[in-house]
Amino acid sequence: MTAANDANAAHAAMHAYADRTIFRDSDTWEMSRRPFHRSLRPQALHEVDLARPLTPDTFMNYESLAAQRVLTCVYEQDLVFLPEQPYDGWLKDFEEFYSPETRELAGQFRGQLEQYCFGYLEQEIEVSPGWTREDFTTYLDDKCRPSDAVPAWEKAIRESPDPKRAARMWLVQFAPDFLSESSPMMKNVLGNYGPVQSEWFKILIDEYGYGVHPKKHSTLFENTLRSVGLNTETHYYWQYYLASALAANNYFHYLGSEHRHFFRYVGALIYTETTLVEFCRRAAAVLNDVFEGECDVEYFTEHLHIDDHHGRMALNDVAVPLIEKFGPEIIPDLVRGIQGYDYVMNNFDSQFSIQISWMDEQEQLFGLHKDIIEKVQAAENVPLANLDEHFNELSNSHCHNQDELCHIISGQMYFFSGLDSKLILNPGDGVVIRNRRQHGADILSDGCKYQIYTIGDVNQWV
Ligand SMILES: [Fe+2]
Ligand SMILES: [Fe+2]
Ligand SMILES: [Fe+2]
Repeated sequence: MTAANDANAAHAAMHAYADRTIFRDSDTWEMSRRPFHRSLRPQALHEVDLARPLTPDTFMNYESLAAQRVLTCVYEQDLVFLPEQPYDGWLKDFEEFYSPETRELAGQFRGQLEQYCFGYLEQEIEVSPGWTREDFTTYLDDKCRPSDAVPAWEKAIRESPDPKRAARMWLVQFAPDFLSESSPMMKNVLGNYGPVQSEWFKILIDEYGYGVHPKKHSTLFENTLRSVGLNTETHYYWQYYLASALAANNYFHYLGSEHRHFFRYVGALIYTETTLVEFCRRAAAVLNDVFEGECDVEYFTEHLHIDDHHGRMALNDVAVPLIEKFGPEIIPDLVRGIQGYDYVMNNFDSQFSIQISWMDEQEQLFGLHKDIIEKVQAAENVPLANLDEHFNELSNSHCHNQDELCHIISGQMYFFSGLDSKLILNPGDGVVIRNRRQHGADILSDGCKYQIYTIGDVNQWV
């Protein structure tokens, strides 16, 4: 079988997977059949060419969001989720989510989808050979030194005209990771690899609150969400996750599921546990300021304390004994794990910050439509789609690779652009949809006729 045939067969399996009933579109913004129903938009997968992996320029594209969503579901079939409250039909959903058919399909494309989503990190991250243990500790000291620079996420929240909304949107982006915290890590303590395995297990026990449910880190995060009026159930906010947030979570699942990357996970573990201390200090301060003390920040203050230990344990009790036993040739993979995590987290931060600008500038983009619509309509060769949708036809959240102009002919549209961010569009209204920004639409009237112009870069029209 050629590579192209192989990619085609994998693509067909991925499409069939996303077309399972449990993964079809939702007719509400928040998912109602939690935690099993997640919309995967099989129609978006046509753009996912498994033979042409994502690149540093395309990781926020339409196709990337579609692919990362599928990959999240594939990994989560290895975890156990049950609904907070059994709902009508939950058992049927449970059975479909974990069915042999669904899992069998996933097995046919998972490896290729991982390469599609993360293959570009191999090109982006170059690690030279010939490391010594001392080189590694010097590198790590340097990499983990706390910086005074205000991170992009903090700036985005503090400078937003609606910092509470921005902070909630930020918390929501962590839900895929924190609500099942350390599940990918669990995959590394299976098997038998000597005393280091038990050292790693100690870290894991802490993450799970040493068996005391109220102390489990995911429970602490639920308390944080609840304290600021957010829902605590897994994937209630499925439609709000950015591709960059899903990628950061999927990255750990990828390393944890593919044991050829065991040493990369060890590197990422040291780095995440060590840098989480500074991150959590900032997070607690920002949340305390923004919510004026109303936010439960124990999740973050607990990590301030425990990850100080975990960082040291990951280095001294896991990584160093492995280097001593197996030699410095494992170090390049430790470094690759660190750099990969750094890369996906930088993307997480910068894309979150752009998303907040997008949510905050909806009124301006509503006005911009009025400024340019005549020019766009008068121009030739602007790709145009005429749509006619019925009441409550919900375009589940997605993005486009170019700027688009939405223009309403008749009826009323609810234009969605993130948590608590929306416009109500009436005939003659519209909005500029920025490239790679997540949005969706719902029809509020019996029917709605509207137009979508693919305008390239909006700046050429102003
Ligand atoms: Fe934790
Ligand atoms: Fe930890
Ligand atoms: Fe759209």
